[in-house]
Amino acid sequence: MNKVTVLGSLNVDTILRFKRFPKAGETLPLTGKSIAGGGKGANQAIAAARAGAQTTFIGKVGHDQEGDFMVKQLTDSGVDDQYVAHSDQAATGSAFILLDSSSENRILIDGGTNQQVTAADVDAAQPAIVASTFLIAQFETPLAATEHGFKLAKAAGTATILNPAPATTAVPASLLALTDLIAPNETETETLTGVHITDERSMIKAATNLQQQGVANVIITVGSHGAFWIRGTEHGFVPAYKVNAVDTTAAGDTFIGALSSVLQSDFSNLATAVRFANRASSLAVQQLGAQPSIPTKAEIQAAERA
Ligand code: RIB
Ligand code: NA
Repeated sequence: MNKVTVLGSLNVDTILRFKRFPKAGETLPLTGKSIAGGGKGANQAIAAARAGAQTTFIGKVGHDQEGDFMVKQLTDSGVDDQYVAHSDQAATGSAFILLDSSSENRILIDGGTNQQVTAADVDAAQPAIVASTFLIAQFETPLAATEHGFKLAKAAGTATILNPAPATTAVPASLLALTDLIAPNETETETLTGVHITDERSMIKAATNLQQQGVANVIITVGSHGAFWIRGTEHGFVPAYKVNAVDTTAAGDTFIGALSSVLQSDFSNLATAVRFANRASSLAVQQLGAQPSIPTKAEIQAAERA
């Protein structure tokens, strides 16, 4: 069984649903409002745990009800929370997910305690990092903590997975040098490489660029189209399953978490793992909310047999 440690964010998501965005000066009614566990880090950890990995989370919440709620979301799915720190310095992170009648979302974030994760927090979790098959990180917690975590991982022979989301910053070369697998979506890929993703040729070009920047294994996810992978000179495209999407929130997170639960540490089964991850995210998009929509291993396997 893979052991996975996720370093990252936890957010309480408030999901607002409405027919269309109001124009300037206009007032419109909501068609729905709900609260769910979210945050890219926590979503990926829950996806890994539900898909069968022994999972540990490194992150930070506030001393508030939202923090307790988020820790409960982790532990209810079997994620080890012993390295989730509590801080007085800010409130637990929150996100506002705007869903109009298209299934694409727009998200506003208040990072809160996620912004306060430090290298010292990562040091405290060194035993988990050392014992893990993979360490996974995203960009909703500070880069300095991530880079420190990846250094500890590499020194211990733990493979590193970077999901460079959201695509806000240029990634430092020093972090890419410590990354074994990078998994951006098409927007993030363009931010990192300057290559606009239109077809397989552009994916090969962008992925090769990322390899030249020091990452041996690359996955480019392209939403409802599927995912492209490259490992050394081998590459392939795995089409997505055709489903009726109601909410794409956490589809990418589900992909990363599920992938990490079945991936071999030398990445030799990348194509098979991408297929499994695609199946998991095709289930997540069919339900509302981030964490409530993340499937279990049994659900993924049942969908594979159907
Ligand atoms: O990737 C989806 C997540 O991004 C949401 O759960 C929200 O909290 C934001 O962090
Ligand atoms: Na969803």
